Amino acid sequence: MILVTGGAGYIGSHTVKELLRAGYEVVVLDDLSAGHREFVLTPHFVRGDIRDRATLDGVFRRYPITAVMHFAALTSVPESVEDPARYYEVNLLGTWNVLEAMRAHGVKLFVFSSSAAVYGDPQKVPIPEEHPAQPKSPYGRTKRMVEEILADYEKAYAFRYVSLRYFNAAGSDPEGEIGEWHEPERHLIPIVLEVALGKRPYLEIFGTDYETPDGTGVRDYIHVTDLARAHVRALQHLEAGGESRVYNLGIGRGYSVREVMEVCRRVTGRDIPVREGPRRPGDPAVLVADPSRALREMGWQPRFTELAPLVETAWRWMLKKFGSA
Ligand code: UD1
Repeated sequence: MILVTGGAGYIGSHTVKELLRAGYEVVVLDDLSAGHREFVLTPHFVRGDIRDRATLDGVFRRYPITAVMHFAALTSVPESVEDPARYYEVNLLGTWNVLEAMRAHGVKLFVFSSSAAVYGDPQKVPIPEEHPAQPKSPYGRTKRMVEEILADYEKAYAFRYVSLRYFNAAGSDPEGEIGEWHEPERHLIPIVLEVALGKRPYLEIFGTDYETPDGTGVRDYIHVTDLARAHVRALQHLEAGGESRVYNLGIGRGYSVREVMEVCRRVTGRDIPVREGPRRPGDPAVLVADPSRALREMGWQPRFTELAPLVETAWRWMLKKFGSA
């Protein structure tokens, strides 16, 4: 059985769906601070906090766990700048707690949710895994520090892991069962779609003076189901005896904020009012993955390589969530 922490959240819930599809049994541990109970697609659910060691021990005692996928974390870069203590407590100490509970119960396979935020301002794009890791925010530092802990644990404790550095996760389950739902919403695509639906008055573009073709920020948007499938591949790699690895997960192509808006306009057929605002502190101009290692070594291939079909899945989910057309 696979333990998925944060399995009620956005990427976690989509990964649980893919694990179940691949025939795995799954138990979800989630405190529902950001996740949604109805997103938990497995019958095995424990509500609890990764900071609580007793809860973790209870889960490991109750279920025959053979590997852990660890999604439970705080995820906002600006929030981590305002309140770093919380980020170190949940993302660093919480993860250490999970690792220690695994060690106590003899579980040795770990798949970790890392982030492109570990790279900081890219010195070159597309970004390969060997790119120096100089995170710019406490959030990025917690992800990087955990990767360093993992490398040490691997050497000392016959423990193996795959760390997956996500670029911009986007889109929703193509079957519409679960989807992207953050409160508050901070991500570009759902915000643009909320504007299209009339739930927000306009999109504010954070910076139009970047050194990019149209002056707005460029990102690599990867469909959440493609991300989820990569997690299943990573697990299978570890189960087959594969060694510890770090992989970028992106499609290897960037879209600017204006390009994203244009695609959303076409997909929704609605007007999207815009205001041009200042840069958001900490945002790099361009973040695009070089995902060739994951393609080569895991035999993984993203299915959503164009933005329009990805946005269509996000739009269908948004219409369902707000119950309107
Ligand atoms: C994302 C993730 C972050 C992850 C990081 C990797 C969030 C909010 N984002 O950040 O967890 O670690 O990738 O580096 O958690 N934009 C606007 N107006 C808006 C919202 C966004 O112009 O109202 C722009 C941003 O400036 C950026 C792009 O849209 O250029 C994408 O923004 P967003 O969806 O917030 O993701 P990232 O900031 O790239």
